[in-house]
Amino acid sequence: MPPAKPRPLPAKSLLPKINQMLYGGDYNPEQWPEETWREDMRLMREAGVNLVSIGIFAWAKLQPREKTCSFGWLDRLMDLLAENGIYANLATATASPPPWMSKYPGLNAVDGKGHVWAHGSRQHYSPFSTVYRRFAAALVRKLATRYRSHPALALWHINNEYACHVQECHSEAATAAFRIWLKARYGSIEGLNDAWGTAFWSQHYQDWDEVLTPRHTPTFPNPCQVLDYHRFMSDAILDLCKMERDILRAITPDIPVNTNFMGCFKPLDYWKWAREIDFTSWDAYPDPLTERPELFDACGHDLLRSLKPGRPFVLMEQCSSHVNWRPVNAAKPPGVMRLWSLQSVARGADGVLFFQWRQSLAGAEKFHGAMVQNGSQPGQGRVFREVCELGADLGKLAPVVGSVIRSKVAIMIDWQSWWALESPSKPAQFHYEKAFSQIQRLCFDRNIAVDFVHPGSDLSGYSLVFAPNLYLLEKQSADNLDAFVRNGGTLLVTCFSGIVDREERIVPGGYPAYLRETLGIAVEEWWPLGPEQRMPVRFGRRSLHARDWRETIHLRGAKALATFAGDHLAGSPAVTRNRRGAGQAYYLGMQMDDPDLAHLLDPIFSRLKLAAPVRAPAGVEVTLRENSRAKFLFLLNHKETAARIPLGAHQGTDLLTGAKARAAITLEPHGAAVIALAIT
Ligand code: GAL
Repeated sequence: MPPAKPRPLPAKSLLPKINQMLYGGDYNPEQWPEETWREDMRLMREAGVNLVSIGIFAWAKLQPREKTCSFGWLDRLMDLLAENGIYANLATATASPPPWMSKYPGLNAVDGKGHVWAHGSRQHYSPFSTVYRRFAAALVRKLATRYRSHPALALWHINNEYACHVQECHSEAATAAFRIWLKARYGSIEGLNDAWGTAFWSQHYQDWDEVLTPRHTPTFPNPCQVLDYHRFMSDAILDLCKMERDILRAITPDIPVNTNFMGCFKPLDYWKWAREIDFTSWDAYPDPLTERPELFDACGHDLLRSLKPGRPFVLMEQCSSHVNWRPVNAAKPPGVMRLWSLQSVARGADGVLFFQWRQSLAGAEKFHGAMVQNGSQPGQGRVFREVCELGADLGKLAPVVGSVIRSKVAIMIDWQSWWALESPSKPAQFHYEKAFSQIQRLCFDRNIAVDFVHPGSDLSGYSLVFAPNLYLLEKQSADNLDAFVRNGGTLLVTCFSGIVDREERIVPGGYPAYLRETLGIAVEEWWPLGPEQRMPVRFGRRSLHARDWRETIHLRGAKALATFAGDHLAGSPAVTRNRRGAGQAYYLGMQMDDPDLAHLLDPIFSRLKLAAPVRAPAGVEVTLRENSRAKFLFLLNHKETAARIPLGAHQGTDLLTGAKARAAITLEPHGAAVIALAIT
């Protein structure tokens, strides 16, 4: 079942043991002598840390040989944490198997060219190795049994960033599992032939043994084979996570389980994944060198919050200063780490953690920033000072814990459509993330709260829903969109939507197939544009421009709001609106740059009275979190200059400073305020 619209929840923390904002980071004490641990505890207390993720890459330390386990060090660490009032997000340690395990054939994953990944880095295992599953299950069972009643245990961290490095496996076991998955989906080999359209290019299969995972092929592989492989891999990796989760829930039913996601991450269908864990979390590494880096986090936070409606999420990893894995690893300027951390809370997070606590002295991440950095004495330096200040700030935000964001606007995102849209041999190259993040960005710039939704979600709580590039659309989902419109909603669909069904077969009879009546149009032809080409569009008295793509649209009940100009498409509809039932359905038959798209969207936002909670100058982010007792107005200044924000009726107390905020508030460059407003 798709997720439902957020429901108001009583304020409740994600971890029953910690009724505060979660604060801490990945902690890898196995890299340090035990004397250092005591210093770590002291510094963690100083910084206000209440949760650390431990053991994520400790499998080789916990099970140094096949038949030898070594938990003594972890026992001592867990006790030390408990003595210091710090809780453990205890990892199941299955993210990177120890080298001894590679002696088992099939343990390591195989890429599309048949090359086997070696150990010596991380995540080299095949999700289809029965040996990996057996050892992983045994380790998880041992950890859960050993620490089930330990006072430090607050949360389970399953594996780590599933599919971060290895998203495909083409081993014999993977191929056999793919065949089983396909058999369950299509029933017979003829069912598969039909779905995959194998009459094309002599691909017809006689027997299941002939079916392969999509490997190294001379030219385009079968599109439905590729799409099914995406579905299959996402499901297969999720199955590993569920295996661990089931063991943990059976032994420690009261300890929540989590695994860290990677934001807008294409390989895994996070709608399906989010259902299987207690709350969502993600690892956010915006590049400070990009223009407006705050946009990257904002989009990821909105997605993470939406994946589990009504539940806050956790920012499970971020860096204190700089990463080590880009060609140029720019550091966050002073104050920016605090601002971006508060941004996650502003957009729904109930916890802020880092990778990692203490910077390593050896290994591939010794140049990755940390809460305790190598460049100064432990407990000193700019970064540690900012870490302590952030800890103090988060301590003041305990009243915000459990509160939610109520959005009237939603953006549809569907992993199946993403996979299908971006597989090769299309009329032009589409970039799904660019399409949905553009709409998110336009909402962000207007401080209009926005959720992400699945095509099958309950849309009844929204007044405006965007469906950008929804290339693959099943009839049932199209009916959901249609019902939303007939019941009074406003829908805006963008080009190249509703083209194929779940098998990536064209739905015959004209585009956009199941949405033709909802939108009151028929699309006959597509006209992709070159990378630099811009074609004029008339919108009232304005002249806008289409980029990348245009379409020949026939009106079938809808009205043209804008028309193409300049060539053979002159005068034909570019933007349409169809009144249907109590609602309206818009269609955009092109792509546009932000300022032009804004001209089309702003009138829709105003008609629906969708606006920011307070009118802030450009560069100031505003969000509102609420529970049944209070509302919290977050104000974040992303600019290098101070900003003055009129508060209107939104007056209250700034939780960060304790000061009363009356008619207006001034924020320092990169400054923030969290104003608690009483609900009257
Ligand atoms: C994450 C990973 C961490 C660490 C971090 C560095 O992807 O989960 O273990 O490697 O990146 O940025």
